[in-house]
Amino acid sequence: MEYSFKFPLILGFTLIFFFSSTSICQNCPVPSKYSDIFNACVEARAEALPYEESERACIDNFGEIISIHNAFENTAVAELAKNYGQNGRIFIGLQKYGNAWSWSASGELDYVKWGGGEPKKGNCAVMDSADSSWHTVDCEQPFGRICVLEPKTCYDDWSYYPVTDFCYYHGFNKTFNDAEDFCQTFDGHLASIHSNDENQYIKDLTYSKECLTSVNGYNQGTTVLGGQLAANNKTAFWVDETEADYTGITCYHGGEPNTILMNSFPADCGRCPDGIWWISFADQQTEIYPDFVCKVMPFEGAKQRKTARNLK
Ligand SMILES: *[C@@H]1O[C@H](CO)[C@@H](O)[C@H](O)[C@H]1NC(C)=O
Ligand SMILES: *[C@@H]1O[C@H](CO)[C@@H](O)[C@H](O)[C@H]1NC(C)=O
Repeated sequence: MEYSFKFPLILGFTLIFFFSSTSICQNCPVPSKYSDIFNACVEARAEALPYEESERACIDNFGEIISIHNAFENTAVAELAKNYGQNGRIFIGLQKYGNAWSWSASGELDYVKWGGGEPKKGNCAVMDSADSSWHTVDCEQPFGRICVLEPKTCYDDWSYYPVTDFCYYHGFNKTFNDAEDFCQTFDGHLASIHSNDENQYIKDLTYSKECLTSVNGYNQGTTVLGGQLAANNKTAFWVDETEADYTGITCYHGGEPNTILMNSFPADCGRCPDGIWWISFADQQTEIYPDFVCKVMPFEGAKQRKTARNLK
């Protein structure tokens, strides 16, 4: 009798953890959220696709379609399926190969929650969020999906930004060329910028609240980015060879294409403040700037999680 009381309580608390985004120390790219239950980033998508495409969509995002190994995980998936499924139904990563069902991603088939009379005809399976039971379907029938992704990690002293899913480093007192060399030792580059969010993030990362003059008479917070700006059409060319799809607000530009700086300081410190770009004509080899920002892709934590799960 005691169990029947305690069990739902524990389950309730576990679910609260699952849905309050406790992603403070776990790096999960937007829109995924860290889940204690899966010890991973979990991402639910309502977009209805056939099974193979659902699986590929997860893999393209460095993840895998969800597999379920106990009742806690099953309940958590049912909660997600409520909001993202077709009529509350969502693909789980279970497939029939020959006569046997197995998870297409990871782990043994050590837990099942088939609905009444299941498994029936069909080689794929959906979760019905109403009672968290599993049902066979035709793999060509489109449903939403839940992907599991490894939390991301950056090098020490680098910061992770979930919106862009990149790691950034704030460094000081280097020329463009030396800063780019430094970034390359981490397989990265001086930062390219592709959205207002990213521009804002880099501004915040390098912001100098006080008006301090640093090297060469530049205000502290004068930050070298990894690009040049074409004068005629204000197109940014990035050293990491990413697309020229974003130009920040530029407050000063002369004639030739040259190094893009971002001014990360308040208005009373000088010209072009608060994340606005301006263009330096100074030599990339000799001119030292107060700040620079490197950018590199994060690591996937895949191996750790799989090891943890295999130990069960
Ligand atoms: C950068 O150079 C300035 C001026 O020489 C100096 O005051 C500052 O401490 C240096 N910053 C770092 C992080 O080395
Ligand atoms: C902008 O100008 C540069 C340099 O003249 C040129 O290479 C680039 O193709 C132009 N881009 C667009 C979008 O017009």
